Amino acid sequence: MPSPAEPFVFPRTGMESKNRAVLAAMTNKQSNDDGTLSEDEVNWLLMRAQGGFGIVTTAATHVTPGGKSWKGEMGVWGDHHIPGLTKLADGIRGHGAISLAQIFHGGMSAPESLTGQQPISASQNPLSDGMEGESREVTNDEIEDLISSFGDAAVRCAEAGFDGVELHGAHGYLICQFLGEATNRRDDEWGGDISSRSRFLLRIIEQVRSRAPEGFLVGVRISPEHRRVGVRLEDSLDLAEILADAGIDFLHISCWDCSWRSSEFPEDPRTLTEWFSDRVGDSVPIISAGAIWSTSDAQGVIGHGADMIAVARAAIGHHDWASNMADTEYDPQRPPFSSSHLISQGLSETFVDYMRSWKGFVE
Ligand SMILES: Cc1cc2nc3c(=O)[nH]c(=O)nc-3n(C[C@H](O)[C@H](O)[C@H](O)COP(=O)(O)O)c2cc1C
Repeated sequence: MPSPAEPFVFPRTGMESKNRAVLAAMTNKQSNDDGTLSEDEVNWLLMRAQGGFGIVTTAATHVTPGGKSWKGEMGVWGDHHIPGLTKLADGIRGHGAISLAQIFHGGMSAPESLTGQQPISASQNPLSDGMEGESREVTNDEIEDLISSFGDAAVRCAEAGFDGVELHGAHGYLICQFLGEATNRRDDEWGGDISSRSRFLLRIIEQVRSRAPEGFLVGVRISPEHRRVGVRLEDSLDLAEILADAGIDFLHISCWDCSWRSSEFPEDPRTLTEWFSDRVGDSVPIISAGAIWSTSDAQGVIGHGADMIAVARAAIGHHDWASNMADTEYDPQRPPFSSSHLISQGLSETFVDYMRSWKGFVE
């Protein structure tokens, strides 16, 4: 079994990550109002690249102005974003890491108060996240435009020198809303069983692959289970096979806690990572994320079949987390962290304030 400190080579492109530690996408509220990157956001990410991560992923970044879900969210919908993206990509490369931009659209989680538009989704759905009203079902023409916008965004990332994109199909945002049987009740080609509900995602993959350079990585992040949108494990496993057949470069499963079993099959002893590696293990590289704090946690998840592991909260508290992967005893301090410690780890006051909304994270 490989150690998390060992390199990983992406089979299709031959691109090598110096280790198996991925900085997971993290929204941090530090972008400017027009979606351009701030100095604070570039610094926070470059500190993680310098801190040894093999792969550094940006925060979720919206592909159209209407897809913005939070204030301070990074954007990739216009050419004015390219200079900031270029600076970030150059910096990440300078530290010997691979750069990924996580591209997304909030769908029904993109509030009208930010976008000036009624939220859209696969179907007309009641809004959540504290919003009132309903989403509007997107038309076929709008779906085609959205697919093109994902392509435009990926081309901008490639022009800026990014090594690839992660398509954000997890956590209940637009791609996930198409995948879920509760939020996608369409009776046209975009709805139905999982092979039809995944058509939107597959067309985005096709679009990105046809327009980005050959060596550009295209991966997908999914939620194995997501009750609110109606994503069930069995469908997600079928989806994993569909995505492997489509030739994606990695499948990133967002488990929230890698020790969790399926909530639908609680009697089955397998962790979520094991379910996926049993189904598609050899046909597509798997990244798994959730509650990994120590080298031993990371090694355990690789033992369950992940090719790489991704961390979020541990990397907020410890910018150099990844450089400790050769130390099998490494088990760094866990939350709560003092705000002065977080600032010493490259977070701005804005980011520290945001982390106060993550229960028990800031002292
Ligand atoms: C502050 C913060 C922001 C996050 N933003 C995103 C995001 O933009 N996109 C995403 O896919 N996941 C996001 N996540 C989820 C993480 O990528 C990760 O899957 C989750 O935190 C579990 O990993 P951890 O236990 O290592 O923190 C975020 C998590 C945190 C803590």
